Amino acid sequence: MGLTDLVEFWEREVKPRFREVDIESMVSLSDGSEVKYVNLDNAATTIPFRSVIEKIINSLSEYGSVHRGSGQHSKVTTARYEHVRETIRRFVGASSDDYIIFTSNTTTAVHLAASLWAQRSGFILVSDAEHSSNLTPWVQHEHIKNNGRVVREYNTNPDGTIDIEQIRQCFERANNDDEKIKTFTTNSLRIKLLAVTGASNLTGYKPQIYELAKLAHSYGAKIFVDACQLLQHEQIDMLPDDDPCHIDFIAFSGHKMYAPFGAGVLVGPKDFFDGRDLPAPFFGIDFLNLVYGSVYQLGGGNIPYIDSGGNVLRPKIERAHEPGTPNFAGAIAIEEAIILLEEIGMNRIKEYEHQLVALALDGMMKISNVKIYLPKNKICYPKDETGDYIIGSVIPFDIEGLPHKLVAEILAQEYGIGVRAGSFCTYELIRKLKGITKEQDQEITKEVLSGVTANIPGLVRASFSMINNLEDVNRFVSAISEISGKDIGYYRQRYELDERTGEWRVK
Ligand code: ALA
Repeated sequence: MGLTDLVEFWEREVKPRFREVDIESMVSLSDGSEVKYVNLDNAATTIPFRSVIEKIINSLSEYGSVHRGSGQHSKVTTARYEHVRETIRRFVGASSDDYIIFTSNTTTAVHLAASLWAQRSGFILVSDAEHSSNLTPWVQHEHIKNNGRVVREYNTNPDGTIDIEQIRQCFERANNDDEKIKTFTTNSLRIKLLAVTGASNLTGYKPQIYELAKLAHSYGAKIFVDACQLLQHEQIDMLPDDDPCHIDFIAFSGHKMYAPFGAGVLVGPKDFFDGRDLPAPFFGIDFLNLVYGSVYQLGGGNIPYIDSGGNVLRPKIERAHEPGTPNFAGAIAIEEAIILLEEIGMNRIKEYEHQLVALALDGMMKISNVKIYLPKNKICYPKDETGDYIIGSVIPFDIEGLPHKLVAEILAQEYGIGVRAGSFCTYELIRKLKGITKEQDQEITKEVLSGVTANIPGLVRASFSMINNLEDVNRFVSAISEISGKDIGYYRQRYELDERTGEWRVK
């Protein structure tokens, strides 16, 4: 896409699909003036498509209880809710043997999966570059269920990229360990699941998930892809179940794909969720079985019967994993967002966003005291050997001599540009990128325990989406250029630091 195409794409395809009040809102600056807001925090959350809001409002005129009522409104609402599953199935290329389960967000989706994976023998393998939501649920559930057993972690390269050979070695080592203990225990040391991000929330780096899937499968393991930073930027295809590169599980959030109404999604094999891959239940009951431990959260709506002996039975359907009254508005918001994404075209979205990020990077790389933390050698040559882009839609950076949280505050207060600064729930990756030593880490830990969070390492992150345009890129690059031309002494006269939190505020 040339510059004219970028302008046209935004004017024709993007702008009309959002409400003016959302996409061109004005914000106040510290000097009292107003400017158009530049939203570069799309990796945290996204604004809703206009028709997502309209669809929710229109559907509420016939709103009724999902799965519970016999009235007309209940039936219409239930049918609409169930229909969303099929739209998602088609969009992500899930098979008819998969469940599409609604959750609250990606974190709750990973918790659900982790609670069930903890019942299976073997280890979870995760990278040290994951967002906490694709790390701590695995650790927590394995720990509870398996009495202190932890997940195995593989080290990514210094820039956070994955070396597939390293992962192969993790699988090999686990198999060898398992061979050694075989005679003493029935609990396998093999790796049962490889959990990996589809795109890093910090660097935008996109691991080769299909290659990783093939590798995991060759060792009899499954793969779980946290797709919440991927699926709004490019097409994901889980591929047919018999394809060696098939993705077994994915999780994502509506609020990161222009449908911020509190729903997330977990997709994975029915047999896994129904426990058919576990040892057969005592009584061999096919449709219902005892529920304890085989469902993450018991409660209203996901239990068909509790017998007089207190035995809780479960249905072998998605609803067993959706406790309580479902989030109808969240689900139909996701469906409408998918319709819009498909209408615009995922390939065109990917191309457009990539061109914007490339232009922003080009501008930033000319500013001498700006450091960009993207995978090395991939910044200027972002396509890999398959011709695909390796970097995504985020630019993590800092400016020499200026604390990251100050830079973010200046961008907001003086330029009306919203970014995020901090550690982005990716503590190990941040330590790696910033070169934090073990000793420094121990000091930071002591401080955090005493309530001081100011020295937790962090970066500034500008995250782009299709709602951004050329004007946003130009304003952002020119703001960074101006900020980097001034020193901390200049800004200390205007901003004050909270020594405990590291936050800066206009004086
Ligand atoms: N996980 C979201 C982010 O990276 C909130 O900003």
